[in-house]
Amino acid sequence: MMIQQQFVADKQRWALLERGRPLDDSRSFRRCLGQYPTGVTVITASHDGGPVGMTVNSFASVSLDPPLILWSIRRESRNVEAFRSAEHFVVNMLAHDQVQVSQWFCTSHPQKFELVSWVAGLGGAPLIYGAVAQLECQRVSVQEAGDHLILIGEVKQYAHFDGKPLTFSNGEYAMTQGLPREHHGAPN
Ligand SMILES: Cc1cc2nc3c(=O)[nH]c(=O)nc-3n(C[C@H](O)[C@H](O)[C@H](O)COP(=O)(O)O)c2cc1C
Repeated sequence: MMIQQQFVADKQRWALLERGRPLDDSRSFRRCLGQYPTGVTVITASHDGGPVGMTVNSFASVSLDPPLILWSIRRESRNVEAFRSAEHFVVNMLAHDQVQVSQWFCTSHPQKFELVSWVAGLGGAPLIYGAVAQLECQRVSVQEAGDHLILIGEVKQYAHFDGKPLTFSNGEYAMTQGLPREHHGAPN
C-alpha cells in the first residue's frame, strides 16, 4: 500500500497538501474543493414583495436545449424559503471590479440592495448593474441533495456584456488571465 501511494506521489508534479476521507475532516475537504476555480454570481429573486439575493459560486450550465442551469443553496440559509418558493430568479455574473458586491451579498445585511443599482427583471428578480452577464430564469426543479438543495432553472432571457468576470478559488478573489496561444497545442 505504501509503495503504491509513493508511486502515485512520484507521478504527481506538486507536493501533496492534504488527503483523506471527507467525513473525517470537512475543513480539509472544503479546502480541496476550493482549489477548483469558479466564477462568482449574485442570484436574486423577489419574495414577499421585496428583493432577495445571495452570493453563489455553485452555478453551472447544464443543457442548451432546453436551456437549463443549476445552482445549490445551503438548506440552513435564511434565503432558502424565498428561493424555494420564487417562480423566477436571476443569475448575475459579477465583474472583476464587483468584489464588494460579492462581499455584501454573502451577508444578511438588510439594506444590501440599497448598495447596488438594479432594475426588476422576470418575476421582479433584480438585474444588478455592472454584472458581466444576467440570466433570467424560471425555476423548473428543486432537488434535495444532502445539506443543500439544487435549483434548476430554465433561462428565458439572457444578456452579456464586454467585461472581465470575477473568479474565486482557494478562498480568494481573482480575475482570469489567458494563457498564450502556444499553450493551447493539442497532444500529438
Ligand atoms: C464566493 C462565495 C460563494 C458562495 N456560494 C454559495 C453557494 O453556492 N450556495 C450557498 O448556499 N451559499 C454560498 N455562499 C454563501 C452565501 O452567500 C451566504 O451564506 C449567504 O449570503 C448569507 O446568508 P445566509 O446565512 O442566510 O445563507 C457563497 C459565499 C461566497 C463568498
